[in-house]
Amino acid sequence: MKESCIIFGGGGFIGSHIAEDLLKYGLKVTVFDKLNSSKKNVEHILDEIEFIEGDFNNEVDISKALKGKTYVVHLVSSTVPATSNQNTYYDVETNLLSSLHLFEKCAEFRIKRIVFISSGGTVYGNPVKLPINEKHPTEPTSSYGIIKLTIEKYLGLYNNLKGLDYRILRFANPYGERQNPFITQGLIAHLLYRIKKGEPIEIWGDGKVIRDYFYIKDGARSVYKALNDRSAAKIYNISSGMGLSINQILQRFRSVLKLDFNVNYLPGRKFDVKSNILDNSLAFKNLKWKPEYSFNEGLLNTWRYFLDFE
Ligand SMILES: NC(=O)c1ccc[n+]([C@@H]2O[C@H](COP(=O)([O-])OP(=O)(O)OC[C@H]3O[C@@H](n4cnc5c(N)ncnc54)[C@H](O)[C@@H]3O)[C@@H](O)[C@H]2O)c1
Repeated sequence: MKESCIIFGGGGFIGSHIAEDLLKYGLKVTVFDKLNSSKKNVEHILDEIEFIEGDFNNEVDISKALKGKTYVVHLVSSTVPATSNQNTYYDVETNLLSSLHLFEKCAEFRIKRIVFISSGGTVYGNPVKLPINEKHPTEPTSSYGIIKLTIEKYLGLYNNLKGLDYRILRFANPYGERQNPFITQGLIAHLLYRIKKGEPIEIWGDGKVIRDYFYIKDGARSVYKALNDRSAAKIYNISSGMGLSINQILQRFRSVLKLDFNVNYLPGRKFDVKSNILDNSLAFKNLKWKPEYSFNEGLLNTWRYFLDFE
């Protein structure tokens, strides 16, 4: 029988690219998402996938959707770093508790492996050493990062207690087509959308904050590798391995995309770490994964997408 994979949150930015990628390997792909804008992101592959409209916070929906599936990818999140600190109870309830329920059910239904997309941009906190490898201390500075790290720890527990097999992919800062430009996670999408609309750009801080931006189609390829990984490692950084400041990105907008725009600098935010660059050599060694798109190539594809985006 054909192996299957259900992607919780598969109608989102990252999930829609993962769904597209997994189809290439002949897997039967199911996308589980709540319907609002999410179906639009997978419209182009709706004939090839199963789409389940459901609520991740509803235990019955999760159980029903999981039946008969081989693999699980978990991407649901109700918060982003900036919003998570405003209501920590909500963060725990909707992200942590629902994830635990998912893990219970995955163990019960004998899911072969679960891949959790965690956050390499927040679980480590302020770096002691750059680039950050998977053994770096974890001191998250937001509720979002604490929850991601706690979910990771619980995966370890469910592995010990119930034999649930898993891999964790700590994504740095993905960018690309279908990223939501209206939220505060996803700087490149947000800025490109504003420029396209002729709106002024606002930057928190002096623009020297450094992040590790990688193109989402590269990130999506790491999931199939993680589903089939035979090494003993459980956690991988997924990143470009290269840092760019916001000011350098703005410079690329000017030089690569030939854009003209004004920038307003605002006071910095407390929870933003100054620099985050992830060492992706373990993923290269064990998963044989490495980014294939250059920053400029990914940026051009993203800009083309936002030119048509309303
Ligand atoms: N975008 C990034 O920069 C980034 C970086 C590292 C990790 N992540 C993590 O990767 C995951 C996906 O991120 P994304 O950028 O694709 O976000 P996204 O918001 O585009 O996708 C998340 C999807 O989850 C769905 N969802 C939310 N609550 C749900 C619920 N109760 N029931 C069913 N579906 C629900 C949403 O409808 C959405 O389609 C998240 O967990 C995020 O924290 C994102």
